[in-house]
Amino acid sequence: MKKSVFVSGAHDGTGFAIASRFAKEGYAVFVGSRSIEKAESAAKKLRDSFGVFAKGYAYQTAVLDEKEVQSIFADIRKEGYLLDTLVLNAANLGIGQVSLEVDIADFMGVFTTNIGWNFLMAREAAKQMKEKGGGAIVFIGSNSSVRVTENRCAYCSSKSAINAMSKSFAVDFGKYGIRSNCVLPGMIKTERWENNVNNAKYCLPNYTPIEDIATFEDVANAAYFLGSELSRNTTGAEIVVDGGMLAQLTPNINRELWKK
Ligand SMILES: NC(=O)c1ccc[n+]([C@@H]2O[C@H](COP(=O)([O-])OP(=O)(O)OC[C@H]3O[C@@H](n4cnc5c(N)ncnc54)[C@H](OP(=O)(O)O)[C@@H]3O)[C@@H](O)[C@H]2O)c1
Repeated sequence: MKKSVFVSGAHDGTGFAIASRFAKEGYAVFVGSRSIEKAESAAKKLRDSFGVFAKGYAYQTAVLDEKEVQSIFADIRKEGYLLDTLVLNAANLGIGQVSLEVDIADFMGVFTTNIGWNFLMAREAAKQMKEKGGGAIVFIGSNSSVRVTENRCAYCSSKSAINAMSKSFAVDFGKYGIRSNCVLPGMIKTERWENNVNNAKYCLPNYTPIEDIATFEDVANAAYFLGSELSRNTTGAEIVVDGGMLAQLTPNINRELWKK
C-alpha cells in the first residue's frame, strides 16, 4: 500500500509546501482546511502536479468535535489507506491579544485549536498507525515556544505545550512504532511577513547569524525528514528551523564596525 500523509492547514503557504514535499515522494496526500473548497482545490493541484492520490477534508477547529475528527479517519480508511504520517500545521496565531485586555474566550480559543484539536487529531491518527504497526506525528510548533514575542501569550504558551504534547506522544505511543516530533520554525517568509516593512528591514539581517529566515520549503524539508523513515531513530525531538535565531542572544552589530 502507498504511504499516506494528512496535513492540516494545507491549502496554501507552509502547509501546501509540506503537502507538496510528501507528494513529490509519491505519498497519497489528505489535505485539511476549514474550507472544503480550498481543501479540494489544493488536492487537485497536488494531483495535477505530482500524479498522486489527493483528497480534501474540511473541519472546524474552534469547537472540539471528536466525531468529526473520527469521520475524517473513517473516510481515509474507506479510501483504502491507514495513515503513515500526520503533520499538524494549522494554528490559531492569536495575533493582537494584548495581555492586559484579551477576552478570556479568545485566549482559550487558541488552546482549543492548537492543543485540544491537535490532540484529537493525533490520537485518532495514532489509532490507525497502531493498527498499521507504526507511523509518525509531526507538529509544526514554533521557536516562540522557547523565547516569546510581545502580546502573544496564548499562542506562545500553546506552542510550548505542543513541545510537551509531542514528547508525551513519543513516550505513550513509542511501543506501537509511532514517533512524534516537532519542527520549530522561526520567522517564515509568508505574505504577512513580506508585507510588514519592519520585519523585512530589521528582523532578517539583525536576528539570525546567517542573515536569513525560513522559506516554506525549509519548513517542508524538516517536516518530511521527521515524517518519513529518514528519521526512523528520532522521536520526542525538536528541529529548529530559524536561521539560528534561538542560538543568538543579541542582535547582530554592524559588522563593518569590527574592522575599525
Ligand atoms: N509564519 C511564521 O513566521 C511562523 C513562525 C513560527 C511558527 N509558525 C508556525 O508554522 C505553521 C504555519 O505558519 P503560517 O504562518 O504559514 O500559518 P498560517 O498561514 O497563518 O496558517 C496556516 C493554516 O492554518 C489554518 N488556520 C489559520 N488560522 C486558523 C485558526 N484560527 N484555526 C484553525 N486553523 C487556522 C489556515 O488554513 P485554512 O484556512 O485552510 O483552515 C492556514 O492556511 C503554524 O503552525 C505556525 O504557528 C509560523
